Amino acid sequence: MPTSHPSKTPIILDCDTGVDDTMAIIFACLAPEIELVGIGTIWGNVDLDLATQNSLNILAMCGKPDVPVARGAETPLNGSHVDYAYFVHGDDGQGNRGMKGKYGKQISMTAAEFIVDACRKRPGEIELVPVGPLTNIALALQLEPNLPKLVRGVTIMGGTALAPGNVTPVAEANVWHDPEAADLVFKAQWPITMVGLDVTMKTLLTPDHFDRMRKGGGISKYMAQIAEFYTAFNENASFGRPLATMHDAVAVGLAANLVRATISPLVHAEVDTTDGPGRGQTICDLRGKYLNYPPQEGAHCRVPLELEDGFPDYFTNLLVAAGDPAVDIS
Ligand code: RIB
Ligand code: CA
Repeated sequence: MPTSHPSKTPIILDCDTGVDDTMAIIFACLAPEIELVGIGTIWGNVDLDLATQNSLNILAMCGKPDVPVARGAETPLNGSHVDYAYFVHGDDGQGNRGMKGKYGKQISMTAAEFIVDACRKRPGEIELVPVGPLTNIALALQLEPNLPKLVRGVTIMGGTALAPGNVTPVAEANVWHDPEAADLVFKAQWPITMVGLDVTMKTLLTPDHFDRMRKGGGISKYMAQIAEFYTAFNENASFGRPLATMHDAVAVGLAANLVRATISPLVHAEVDTTDGPGRGQTICDLRGKYLNYPPQEGAHCRVPLELEDGFPDYFTNLLVAAGDPAVDIS
């Protein structure tokens, strides 16, 4: 993992702030290599109000109350029914152990307006890092069709190329929640990194990591505390062991080059928007595998399949070294 950081990577996170989104926000606040330009909020793990308040609270806890938070969409693009994931993240989206207070206030712009505004002010600099359903990013594209030329790139936590889905046999939650939005985002001509379940299901916090966090300062202890519910879900649903998937923090780490992919082909990728069993699947053309992934003309989606080791340790070290919350989190 890098030890020097001559320039910071400016990112805009777009979150449905549950437990692993919280990991990503804390990580973006603590990593000296990252400039957190702002946060858009989105329905998904929890409803939009909760995603927004949780994002504001976490920024306040990390001593970053000036980072703008913009509310985004409450439903998918087509206005269809919304399913939340309180059973994964707890009723408060913080493992039922979140802070009681409410800190901060969202800005008046919507998330889509904020994304467009920020990227127009800093053309070519900002990496968008959506780690929830892609509705806000699709709305930003509709507002500013030139957006692909105004960003550095888009690093998405979502989709899966070869690993099984986590909502249906083939679909990952963030894409499955709004396949029509994801389709617009994947079709836009910008550099995409699709940080899917292929890598995030293998990037795990273990009981040892959480023991270390509990011995750290208040921010670190908070992370360990809210992760208990999420870890229990992961144990029952996926691993048979108390492990926590770091989905959204992995996307932040890759966006800022704080973890490197060792296998990451640049391929064509598209989203299934049909109403059949494939709905929400990200279909990635990995047929070049046996030829070491020769170039595909016009491809603009990078799909990490393997990461170097050490990201969970790096994340834990950063957290344990962090101090106490800047606000009362009891
Ligand atoms: O499938 C995992 C993703 O869905 C993560 O971003 C998690 O926070 C949920 O949004
Ligand atoms: Ca998320």
